[in-house]
Amino acid sequence: MGRPSRSRNCPLEADRRSLMDAYALQRSWDRVTRHGEQVPLYFYSHLFVSHPEVRSMFPLSMANQRDKLVSALGRIVSNADRIENDADFLRHLGRDHRKYAVVAEHYNAVGASLCATLKHFLGSEWDEELAADWTAAYQVIARIMVEAAETASETSPDWWDAEVVSVERRTMDLTLLTVRPGRAFHFRPGQSVSMEIPQRPRQWRYFSPANAPRRDGSIDLHVQQIDGGQVSTAVVRSLKVGDTVKLGAPVGERLTRQADDPSDLLMVAGGTGLAPLRAVLEEIDQEWQRSRTAPRVHLLHGVRMPWHLYDRPWLRELAQRRPWFEYTEVVSDDPSYPGTRGKVGKVAARQALYGRTAMVCGGPQMVGHTLEQLTAAGMHPERIKYEHFYYAAADQHTAEAALTRSGDNR
Ligand SMILES: Cc1cc2nc3c(=O)[nH]c(=O)nc-3n(C[C@H](O)[C@H](O)[C@H](O)COP(=O)(O)OP(=O)(O)OC[C@H]3O[C@@H](n4cnc5c(N)ncnc54)[C@H](O)[C@@H]3O)c2cc1C
Ligand code: HEM
Repeated sequence: MGRPSRSRNCPLEADRRSLMDAYALQRSWDRVTRHGEQVPLYFYSHLFVSHPEVRSMFPLSMANQRDKLVSALGRIVSNADRIENDADFLRHLGRDHRKYAVVAEHYNAVGASLCATLKHFLGSEWDEELAADWTAAYQVIARIMVEAAETASETSPDWWDAEVVSVERRTMDLTLLTVRPGRAFHFRPGQSVSMEIPQRPRQWRYFSPANAPRRDGSIDLHVQQIDGGQVSTAVVRSLKVGDTVKLGAPVGERLTRQADDPSDLLMVAGGTGLAPLRAVLEEIDQEWQRSRTAPRVHLLHGVRMPWHLYDRPWLRELAQRRPWFEYTEVVSDDPSYPGTRGKVGKVAARQALYGRTAMVCGGPQMVGHTLEQLTAAGMHPERIKYEHFYYAAADQHTAEAALTRSGDNR
């Protein structure tokens, strides 16, 4: 059935979701993504030529990065008919975009470059109806983000400056960092924060506070250097006491607990996946000190080599002092290690699972493998909470599909 024709200009005035053809949006986006890296290349070239003033918001080198915004943009906008599922995420995204210095006017620039990109790759398939669908969908998303940003501006800063107060290189490739925000920064144990360091301007990365909130506001971060990694390498090698970093608002509810939740926990950490679980442990310990009640917690820390057990003293001491806490070290790549060897997910699946909630955190392979092992051992997926250190907030389904079958303890 024909629909009223709308102007070819983009963005358009249309903003009614009922006018969108969800199937057409998704099908056209699928077609565009077949062009792979050409898509963000075209998008950014168009954006930076038509609006040079936004270039400085993006990292100097766009290698490795090109896809962050564009693929999310296409995915989110082409699913605008299911906006109810994503509204909270979009509000967060809108508030968080303030750290890039994005303001309402920039949304027209990005919308125009998105449409130009679609038109370029779709050729004759890009007609008035499709242009109107994309424009309507984009406007719905942009409006949610802009409104959330404007509301948040009344109560919270665009980002938080924080001073680096301690840098401790625990292993060759792992640093424990303590930063202190200059103004109140509220987070919950289990959440993550994005951080920009002065050595890598405009390259924001997520890290997970490893402590429960403190009176002095300081936050510990555990940073694992990734081979070839732009930001983690600079954190481990170059960041120093006295530097000022920027923090974005805390994100993520997957590993947070309800206060006084009595569920017994099986915590499974791979490498620095320990950080958010350690924050939850501190929270439980505070409960214990207040009320002498705490759930039983068994933490398995999986690493590749024994020297990667970077928080052993604190964890062993906690296990000695607290009747509710058990700690197991698991090493995957050292055949001579005298303790528990193997992949941490496999060891976790051998524990008593009934009645427990699992909390799993680490790299995507370790998390994928652990989820597989726990569910194969009979644990109900609803009892498994997890976060992986891989950017996936925009599309959880894609991320889950990306979890590979084999895993190590990283
Ligand atoms: C919610 C969340 C919380 C996180 N918390 C922590 C934390 O507490 N501690 C911590 O050390 N890291 C954490 N990370 C990972 C961190 O944000 C960065 O992704 C990581 O430091 C790599 O950044 P980079 O700039 O060094 O690498 P990039 O330059 O971005 O990437 C270099 C190469 O490494 C690959 N890569 C990127 N990230 C990883 C990874 N995590 N594992 C393996 N390969 C990777 C990339 O695909 C690319 O090929 C977290 C990530 C998320 C999404
Ligand atoms: C509907 C509109 C938009 C959507 C859905 C969207 C979505 C996203 C997402 C999901 C990311 C990755 C975030 C992260 O890593 O945490 C991102 C990054 C970014 N966005 Fe947006 N965005 C939109 C509009 C804009 C606008 C208008 C601007 C301003 C020009 C902008 C500038 C940026 C920048 C600078 C980054 C960081 C890019 C990088 O690090 O490579 N975005 N966006």
